Formats: sequence, structure tokens, C-alpha cells
Amino acid sequence: METKSFDHKVEESFNCELPGSSRSDNDSGGKNLPGAPVIEVINVKKSYTLGDMEVPILRDINLTVNEGEFLAIMGPSGSGKSTLMNLIGFLDRPTDGKIMIKGLDISELSDKEVARLRGLEIGFIFQTFNLIPRLTALENVELPTYANAREGVDTRKKAKELLNMVGLADRMHHKPGELSGGQSQRVAIARALINDPAILLADEPTGNLDSRTGCEILGMFTRLNKDGRTIVMITHDPEIAKYADRIVLVKDGIIQSNWSKLE
Ligand SMILES: Nc1ncnc2c1ncn2[C@@H]1O[C@H](COP(=O)(O)OP(=O)(O)OP(=O)(O)O)[C@@H](O)[C@H]1O
Ligand SMILES: [Mg+2]
Repeated sequence: METKSFDHKVEESFNCELPGSSRSDNDSGGKNLPGAPVIEVINVKKSYTLGDMEVPILRDINLTVNEGEFLAIMGPSGSGKSTLMNLIGFLDRPTDGKIMIKGLDISELSDKEVARLRGLEIGFIFQTFNLIPRLTALENVELPTYANAREGVDTRKKAKELLNMVGLADRMHHKPGELSGGQSQRVAIARALINDPAILLADEPTGNLDSRTGCEILGMFTRLNKDGRTIVMITHDPEIAKYADRIVLVKDGIIQSNWSKLE
């Protein structure tokens, strides 16, 4: 996928109107959706065992995310949003039910195949950035390619291009401790994109950022989505969620509502 340069001009009086991406309720942003399903969550249950008690967190989740879609997941604290995202990104396994990524049933894959699918097709972005402190921005972006990389890609060159894309060409050799929160999250976005994944999973990506910086990050997401990337983003902020094509509300272990502006 082509990498484009983002414009980081900040307007004098702040508002989060993203040109061409702030959509009205019935505006699909020029996208032709739905595409093929890339994520299918089918009858998924997840419980945790505490002592000898089984605590159900996700009771019965069914969710399909189509190629090129921008989905926001909302819900009260503790409702299981991160749990669901970790299941979609195979950081955890469901107690019951199945998850399919690009038509592949994860439970039928070997550990090695799962690791490869995750490494190549899923980019994670976390609220707390999760950068490695002793590595530079450039090394952090390159890190996922040590485990999995696409053939024939010059990963150093690609990492530099991505850092340039997120406006950090001049911070490549800085370590996370020398970067602001917004800069750190931009490094994390570049890292998530290094293997050109089909899916971006973001768990409260703007949760630790001021609203202006959060808006810049959101601007990047909407542009990445316009370029065809499927995005699933957890947020508690309705102002942020409104930029998604569809919002699902997770509550009491199920999806309580599923609201789309594309239908
Ligand atoms: N490893 C674990 N063992 C036991 N319980 C857990 C574990 N991980 C999460 N939980 C519980 O599962 C529930 C859902 O947690 P989760 O982190 O998915 O919530 P969330 O919706 O992301 O909340 P928040 O908005 O605060 O981030 C919580 O009650 C939490 O205590
Ligand atoms: Mg969470």
C-alpha cells in the first residue's frame, strides 16, 4: 500500500473537523462498502476463572467487520472491549466460539501460522503506546519485522518512510523517553503499519493524548482508512467514534447496539 505524507499544520483555533472525513450520518465518505469480511467473530464467549469461580465477561458476541470498514467499539469500563480486541488480535483465545481473519479460522491454525498471520495482517495500537524504551523510534518501528516480514521489503527503508509519513523524520533516532505522547503514538502507528497489515486494531489510541493531538491521530486513521485499511478502534469518546463508519456498543457481555452510517 502506498504511503502518503501527512500534513501536520495545526490551525490557530482548535477544532476536530477533519477535511473530507467528518461525515454526516448518511454519508459513507465516498466508500463502497461492504467489502469481503476480514474479521468474523462468531458466538464468542470469554470467561475468566477467579479462584473456583468462572466469571463471564463476553457472553455471546457476533460481529463481522468488512474490508475497508472503520469500526468503533464503545461501552462502559470493564464491559470487555479490550478483551474482545485481544481476541480479535489473537493475543488471547475465546472460551467458546470462533474467530476468523480473512476467512481463516484461527483455532485451526498452528501456533506458527497464527504468529505469522498476526505479524503480517494485524497492526496493534495501544493507549499506552507500548514502545521499547531502550530502542530508538526507528528501531521500534522496525521491531515487528524481526519476527515476521514480507518478502522483498527493505524494512529499514520502509520504517523511515513510515516515520516520515507520520511527521517524525527528524525524531528517528530519539528514544521514547525523548518523545512527547503524541509523537510516541505516531511511532506506534508507524510500527503498526510496518508489515502493511490489512487490519489496524487500536485500543483507546487517543486516551492519553490532549484533544488536539488526539485529533491529529484520528486524522491519520481516517486517511489510512480511505486508503483501504480496515480499522477497529475502541474509544469512550463519542466525538471520536463519530468518525467511524459504524459503532458497536458492548455491554453486559453482548453487543447491545450496532449503528452504521453506511446502511
Ligand atoms: N486476565 C484477566 N483475569 C481476570 N479478569 C480479567 C482479566 N482481564 C480482564 N478481566 C476482567 O474482564 C473485564 C473486562 O475487562 P476489559 O479490560 O476487557 O474491559 P474494558 O471494556 O476494556 O474496560 P476499560 O474501558 O476500562 O478499558 C473486567 O471486569 C476485568 O476485570
Ligand atoms: Mg480497555
